[in-house]
Amino acid sequence: LTVRLGPFFKFYGSKYRIAPLYPAPLYDTLIEPFAGSASYATLHHTRQVGLAEVDPDVAAVWRYLISVDGQEIAKLPVCDGPDALPAGFDLRGLDVPEPARLLIRYWQRVGQSRCWTVSKWGHLSGFWCARTRDRLAAQVEHIRHWRILEGSLVGAMPRGKGTWFIDPPYQAQSTVYGDAPDFALLGRWVRALPGQVIVCEAPSATWLPFVKLTEARVGPSITGKSHAKRTEMIWTNSEGNT
Ligand SMILES: C[S@@+](CC[C@H](N)C(=O)[O-])C[C@H]1O[C@@H](n2cnc3c(N)ncnc32)[C@H](O)[C@@H]1O
Repeated sequence: LTVRLGPFFKFYGSKYRIAPLYPAPLYDTLIEPFAGSASYATLHHTRQVGLAEVDPDVAAVWRYLISVDGQEIAKLPVCDGPDALPAGFDLRGLDVPEPARLLIRYWQRVGQSRCWTVSKWGHLSGFWCARTRDRLAAQVEHIRHWRILEGSLVGAMPRGKGTWFIDPPYQAQSTVYGDAPDFALLGRWVRALPGQVIVCEAPSATWLPFVKLTEARVGPSITGKSHAKRTEMIWTNSEGNT
């Protein structure tokens, strides 16, 4: 039995909660070409994981997590306890490696992930508290064999077969992370990939014949308001391409 790792960082559009609902990987090679917080790879972390990410901050955090000594993580300052970083503190002033600043920044809030100040909820459980830090310090040992490419794999055609978990920006909100993907190109690419291909989308997407996966409730917000259910769609070539 392998342990379920917790999320490595908070990320807008994270599939952490619903990752177990997608088909299990059929191949030992598992590629997430739109990494973000890489929830599917985190669930199946023992596979030969390859990530790709165009956002240099996200890529830098993954490079750090894959190679950092857990003891270094365990020494990072947190937002609870005796030496807590106070709400409003500017994380750019921290005397820690730059990717550690980025990591702590991603743990502050989901929606405005480029905001550098400590959130007023930062001390709560599930945020950057000692418990989260110590969990990360332990779980980085599980991803030493992962690889991260800073850039885009879209259009590249590898020879070997693998499981491809494709979670691009939703077509309906295609610019939330930066430039919108070319969905026509993306559709041709995912249909041609060698192996098992799983693609995530929202109900209005038209670039593949998506079907309903689940209705996921976005967790209750910090203010206690419960969030509406959102329908998650999936396309998969369940038998795998040859
Ligand atoms: C919906 S998010 C992925 C969320 C992820 N599944 C998770 O669980 O956190 C999409 C990610 O793809 C990245 N991205 C957008 N276009 C890309 C491309 N052409 N190649 C690689 N990454 C890309 C965005 O920066 C963003 O991090």
